[in-house]
Amino acid sequence: MALPARNIHDETASLIARHRPGLALAQGFYTSDTVYADDIERIIMQDWHFAGLAGEIPDPGDFMLFELLDESVILSRGADGMIHALANVCRHRGSRVCLDQRGTARRFTCPYHAWVYDLDGSLRSARLMGDDLDRAALGLKKVPMELFHGMIFVSFAARPTSFAAIRAELDPVLAPFALERTKIACRKSYPVAANWKLLVENYNECYHCAPAHPEFRRAHLTHMDAARIQPFNAAMAPRAAALGIATDYIDKVGALCPEGSVDYTFSRHSLYDGCATGSEDGQPLAPLLGNLAGYDNAASDLYVGLLNPMLIYNDHVVIYRFIPDGKDRSIHEIIWLVREDAESGKDYHPDRLTWLWDVTTIADKAIIEDNQKGVASRYYDPGPLAEMEAYTARFLATYLDRLARHPQGANE
Ligand code: FES
Ligand SMILES: [Fe+2]
Repeated sequence: MALPARNIHDETASLIARHRPGLALAQGFYTSDTVYADDIERIIMQDWHFAGLAGEIPDPGDFMLFELLDESVILSRGADGMIHALANVCRHRGSRVCLDQRGTARRFTCPYHAWVYDLDGSLRSARLMGDDLDRAALGLKKVPMELFHGMIFVSFAARPTSFAAIRAELDPVLAPFALERTKIACRKSYPVAANWKLLVENYNECYHCAPAHPEFRRAHLTHMDAARIQPFNAAMAPRAAALGIATDYIDKVGALCPEGSVDYTFSRHSLYDGCATGSEDGQPLAPLLGNLAGYDNAASDLYVGLLNPMLIYNDHVVIYRFIPDGKDRSIHEIIWLVREDAESGKDYHPDRLTWLWDVTTIADKAIIEDNQKGVASRYYDPGPLAEMEAYTARFLATYLDRLARHPQGANE
């Protein structure tokens, strides 16, 4: 899909040029309308976004909308069983074609002048338009989509980054968890009065976890430095191996993705002794995922793109989405997955399932909103990052690199 790309604005270019590695970002990155516009075009629209599970639209005719900022995408299951991602923009005069958030349809009829599209987006009929209308050229536009372990990812880039490397590296690693056989158990949205980057920066470091997250610290070790975590990981490795879980990613910090690849990382880390999963009491929360035969008291961090971190426990998955909603407003969305055959109220209890990340995210919301107030102050001066903020430093470096770069396929 050919989307226009703007030149980077002078203000943004100057902020990038003046950035000093090792320090936090300058104020303008969080407060400027100009930088926000460049962020949207060069980062958000170019990256991949978790849009739902294939299992949400299991049968031909099933559809759901994925909406981000001003864009709307129809995700439909065609008569051939394939999933299609279609721009929800009529090829006549541009109306939204599908207005329902989800449902089942035989075809999509535009509410404006009733052009009719098939489930794969092809134009089926256009009232009173004559026989010489080139119907084949007027199907709904395709939006780039990837199906990755049952998860649908969508991008708005003209030439999005590739999933080849992440598939080659992580398909076997993720196989024991059978993510394609999960369903959405719960989802919650947390509005945060802060620039989207402050949410990502916060998620990427656990320097703040010791003071801010007593609940998280009961199960997770990442508030400690690497030397103190290492013995827990060493003890966990044989437990993971016994369950058929790859041990290559224990203590590994961030993969270097090849040029042109979606940005991704994967790691596996031990929880505290006695913690099977991320729960209030350390006890299991739901049936074991996939083919797992037990708990190794560990969890995996998976990133697909810059905006979709996931935490894979042995009995559930937590997917995070960071959604810009203005230069100083964002939505933090959390989606909890359990095995597809698990029954709510019997096999899992939503309140228990969501407890840890609900309480942690509410605490983060307060921290991040205070952070936004501070970075907007006349007294703000970017300070040095700690060693425990290595992932935040990695995010900032990737962010600045992408922001400075000409989006692939754009006509600048
Ligand atoms: S805008 Fe859709 S039929 Fe006219
Ligand atoms: Fe936090």
